[in-house]
Amino acid sequence: MGTLNVLSGQSGSAIGAGSTKTKKRNIHGILNAISWGIMMPLGAIMARYVRVFESVGPAWFYLHVTCQTSAYIIGVAGWATGIRLGSQSPGIQFTSHRIIGIILFCVATLQVIALLVRPKKDHKFRIYWNIYHHSLGYGIIILGIIDIFKGFNILQPEKKWKRSYSGIIIVFAIVALVLEAYTWFVVLKRKKAAKSEKMTNGRNGHNGYGLATNGRV
Ligand code: HEM
Ligand code: HEM
Repeated sequence: MGTLNVLSGQSGSAIGAGSTKTKKRNIHGILNAISWGIMMPLGAIMARYVRVFESVGPAWFYLHVTCQTSAYIIGVAGWATGIRLGSQSPGIQFTSHRIIGIILFCVATLQVIALLVRPKKDHKFRIYWNIYHHSLGYGIIILGIIDIFKGFNILQPEKKWKRSYSGIIIVFAIVALVLEAYTWFVVLKRKKAAKSEKMTNGRNGHNGYGLATNGRV
């Protein structure tokens, strides 16, 4: 509804070119694509896969926190530019892009607030926090990517921008697939080693800790 009006004369424009309004839309697109669409998935990849490499220790945690916190700050700035652009274009609505954008902001803010109540790693409620944090985290990444593609359809920049972003997402997916397989391989190998250690050293293993937690924070 009304999308043709707002885009007339600007579709196919290169990012960085055109009127002030087009520039503002481009900035909105770049900020959001970098934060929700690149940094957030990268931060999740760090939390899930970097942890497996024992030599890294707890560094995965600091990488994850730095990446996600910066992504949230840039993402909120990008989101705010969207709300502002929307309010400056009365009568023109991109309903689904807007609704997803607002849900995304709320869920990500909830995610950040809930970090204040993170139980210690050995606490009996930590498992629930993990389930909650993982679900919201992946939800944010999926919603972010969907909204970015909706944004591309509204802005309609040169095709190379959408293609480049799609390329980045495909690379992330391939990297995640390979690392997922590697992680399973390592985890199963460690479990097997721990089991045979238990059998030779008694129920809890000779160090009393059983399976290594590898830098879990
Ligand atoms: C909005 C920002 C954030 C998003 C989208 C996010 C997303 C995620 C995701 C998807 C995972 C699961 C990785 C896996 O499959 O193992 C994860 C794990 C984790 N995140 Fe975040 N995260 C965010 C911010 C943070 C921050 C700021 C902290 C710092 C306290 C944090 C602490 C953790 C921890 C400790 C884990 C590992 C939990 C475990 O399995 O033991 N996250 N995060
Ligand atoms: C997850 C990332 C994104 C979020 C949260 C977001 C959020 C928003 C919001 C809330 C609006 C206001 C809609 C309205 O009031 O009708 C908006 C408008 C818009 N967004 Fe996004 N956006 C995102 C990504 C993108 C991307 C990547 C692009 C471009 C490639 C883009 C292009 C636009 C355009 C052209 C508008 C219309 C501005 C206007 O009314 O003049 N968005 N966005």
